[in-house]
Amino acid sequence: MDKIIDLRSDTVTIPPKLMLESILEAQLGDDIMGEDTTVNELEAKAAELLGMEDALLLTSGTMANQVALMTFCSRGEEVIMGKESHIYNLEGAATSAVAQVQIRTVSAENGVYDIDEIKNSINTGDIQKAKTSLISLENTYNLNAGQIIPMDNLKEIRSLANEYDIPVYLDGARVFNASVELGISPAEICKEVDAVQFCLTKGLAAPIGSILAGSKDFIAKARFNKQRLGGGMRQAGIIAAPAIYALNNMIDRLKDDNDRADWLAQQIAQIPYFQVDSGGMRTNIVSPSINHENANAEHLINFLLDKGIKVKNIGVKQVRMIVHYQIGQKELDAVVNALESYSKSL
Ligand SMILES: Cc1ncc(COP(=O)(O)O)c(C=O)c1O
Repeated sequence: MDKIIDLRSDTVTIPPKLMLESILEAQLGDDIMGEDTTVNELEAKAAELLGMEDALLLTSGTMANQVALMTFCSRGEEVIMGKESHIYNLEGAATSAVAQVQIRTVSAENGVYDIDEIKNSINTGDIQKAKTSLISLENTYNLNAGQIIPMDNLKEIRSLANEYDIPVYLDGARVFNASVELGISPAEICKEVDAVQFCLTKGLAAPIGSILAGSKDFIAKARFNKQRLGGGMRQAGIIAAPAIYALNNMIDRLKDDNDRADWLAQQIAQIPYFQVDSGGMRTNIVSPSINHENANAEHLINFLLDKGIKVKNIGVKQVRMIVHYQIGQKELDAVVNALESYSKSL
């Protein structure tokens, strides 16, 4: 079998050789003492890119999200977020077990948050209810869909939050997929929020790490919370060097991933029995459903696996495919061929 075509996630990306070589050149020091100059360079660069005062390198998106919640909220306070948010669904219940906050979910259809639902979810002083301390957004939204929050919606949420004096946080694990698609700078998106995290390990193809960015005061408190969780690292420049390479070289190419995903979605939509969700502004994620009595996700996954293609099961009849750095046109042609064969086999 040729090499595996792995579409389960953009976290499977293998760093390019030059990115890995940057590790050998990195100037190292003790980061907990603030002396790893490569980490310091990365944090300054990331802050500038996002238009924030300061930034912090953490080990993962999950840790960045939880540190953000701990920094914005006190124990027992409430955070409003979309029902399909990663923080709510896929962080091992760290919201209750670690950050000790309560979540109130709202709808976000196709990446558009329901502003009335957010407004109705804010506690304006009822002592029987939890205090609303944060609105937490995700852009791109829903890791099974990759939808961009429209800028109008984001601005509307920002002004609502301002009205009630509530900070806004962005889990921007894939925020660069959104910015390249919108053709705007990431800072333009981030100016509508108080703090943001993005993952270095997804489409940017770095091996480890996430960046949390916000005001100087927020990051100083977040740095303490990171340390408290055991997230402090020493010669972390070996993580920061590939991250700097990623910020310099891997952002613009995310548009290729988005465009290829769009092409893939269009091809799949033409294959009998397949349907592709196409609502909202999409990026690098395609989640087709298969509508045939003999077909289901598990059956399809095994069929594709036999042909060296890996996709993720996200429902009885639905799978997820994420386009990334290792997926070019040749790989996509092979995927479309395999799906056509599957359709014919039914
Ligand atoms: C939207 C979103 N937030 C956070 C994360 C968590 O990132 P990590 O896997 O680095 O903890 C992910 C990972 O898939 C994600 O998709």
